[in-house]
Amino acid sequence: MGRFGDRWGRPGSPPDSSGTAPGSVGLSVFAVTTSSSARSQASQRGRQPASRRGSRYLCSPKLPICGDRFSLAKEDLLKSRSFWFDARNRPASCGAWSRFNGDYPVSLRAARSLSLSEEYPVAQAGRIASVFSLPRPIESYDFPDKGNINRHTYLISAGPDGRKREYLLQRINQQVFTRPWSVMASMLASIQAQQECLARGELREGEEWETITLIPTQKGTPYLEITDRRGYSCWRLMVKIPETRTFKSLSEIRDENERLRIAEQAGSGLALYGSFTAGIDVCALENPLPGYRDTRLYYNQLLSVLAGNRTVESASQYLPEDPLVRQSTEQHFLIHLPDGEYKRRTSDPALVPFIELARRQEDFAMTLLREMESGKIRKQAIHGDTKLDNFLFSIRSGRVRALVDLDTIMPHTWLVDWGDMVRSLANVAGEKESNLSRVGVDLKIYEAVARGFLRSARDVRREEIARMVDAVQIIALELGIRFLADYLRGDSYFKLGPADSPDLNKTRAMVQLTLFQKLVEATEKTSACINSISREVRECAS
Ligand SMILES: Nc1ncnc2c1ncn2[C@@H]1O[C@H](COP(=O)(O)OP(=O)(O)O)[C@@H](O)[C@H]1O
Ligand SMILES: [Mg+2]
Repeated sequence: MGRFGDRWGRPGSPPDSSGTAPGSVGLSVFAVTTSSSARSQASQRGRQPASRRGSRYLCSPKLPICGDRFSLAKEDLLKSRSFWFDARNRPASCGAWSRFNGDYPVSLRAARSLSLSEEYPVAQAGRIASVFSLPRPIESYDFPDKGNINRHTYLISAGPDGRKREYLLQRINQQVFTRPWSVMASMLASIQAQQECLARGELREGEEWETITLIPTQKGTPYLEITDRRGYSCWRLMVKIPETRTFKSLSEIRDENERLRIAEQAGSGLALYGSFTAGIDVCALENPLPGYRDTRLYYNQLLSVLAGNRTVESASQYLPEDPLVRQSTEQHFLIHLPDGEYKRRTSDPALVPFIELARRQEDFAMTLLREMESGKIRKQAIHGDTKLDNFLFSIRSGRVRALVDLDTIMPHTWLVDWGDMVRSLANVAGEKESNLSRVGVDLKIYEAVARGFLRSARDVRREEIARMVDAVQIIALELGIRFLADYLRGDSYFKLGPADSPDLNKTRAMVQLTLFQKLVEATEKTSACINSISREVRECAS
């Protein structure tokens, strides 16, 4: 197959600020405009608009951009009336502004110059976005703020000049979420529940909230399922909630007061989200990740690995009964290491005290599950991934405005969302800290999140409030157990990257289990904090 670069000369190096591409060979694809004003200016001047000069993108009004562009014949490209620029950014002979007949092309542009392997998916995203109900023209971009799960997330800009809006196009990561349609069903239920609460005017003074808005396809479906020669993929397009920002971590915020304010706002956001989605019927919800947040299952994995199980038969007493959960998780009940390495890891003197701690705390770790099963605390639709970077904050008011990333909605108690959030925000050290003496609890952050949460929460029970302190401890313990089991069996779940230390999961386990110990040491203070805030909130309400 003749690759585009081979036949036409490889695209040159990225243009420098003067708009030239030094050292490039042959014809390179650089720029195309899509806006009508830019087009008319360009045709008046007979060249491409200055603002576009030097950007590198391929555009075609007629070509299926997603097609294998590397195998397109020159004639097809000519027919397509694409606009081409040579390496010095002069219009090349095969395209001209004056030949533009008014079609709106789908185009792609990169904030930085993309490599060919990066450019292809961005081009594909442009074509996929055009299947949704969007005004033209449509442009697709790389989205540098994408998360760690849905790695195929693209920024889409659509609409005529002056009325352009931004959207995010995401492909659901099927390696993680094997049943994307079920993820979408829960996402739709969550969006609907939030919209109904907003329509009922449930926001109080000083609060802001916005839900994700999904853009339907032109056929009217809420998301797009594609089955082609590459297999199945599931795409959704949502409005990029404007004028908001996220934080990867509180440590990004230098000013302490601002840090505490954002922590409080995040707490408030969690309460608003939880209150607005509390009415979702959990019977209709599937856990998108079978076994996720099942403390019993995580403990059984650890115990099975410590018992030395290497086959499904020998581990059978530890395996879950549900066939779907069992099929998705059974590998994690088994050892995947040579015997010598398994023995070295299980008898590591640095780790043995943590293994003993984990065994001792088994009963405590089950507290939330037990009380949920007995009905003392409620089973509701929870968010499932309440990390800071999933909260959007208004850049105008500084208030929390949305909780996004609705992929892990599942039936559980809101206490696990609360616990996971506080566990991650109040840990003063990073999750990969090798110096355990640095791991500790930031009580001011803890208090700020609790204040934000309890002041905004609409309907939380006394029995649930009574478990808020335990929940943070349990989630730190549970995560520690997950890392520990994974390290001992051979890193089958939290896979290691080429740059990761072979001991990374051991370090992560020790950090979370140390955090658990520090949280237990702080129980008196954290209980006093929760009690005093909830008393204050009750007094204000009465
Ligand atoms: N509707 C939205 N509006 C604005 N920003 C969003 C929206 N959805 C996601 N984002 C941003 O994109 C990031 C990644 O999206 P997310 O759905 O969280 O992907 P992942 O599951 O990979 O973490 C979020 O952390 C947030 O910054
Ligand atoms: Mg996310």
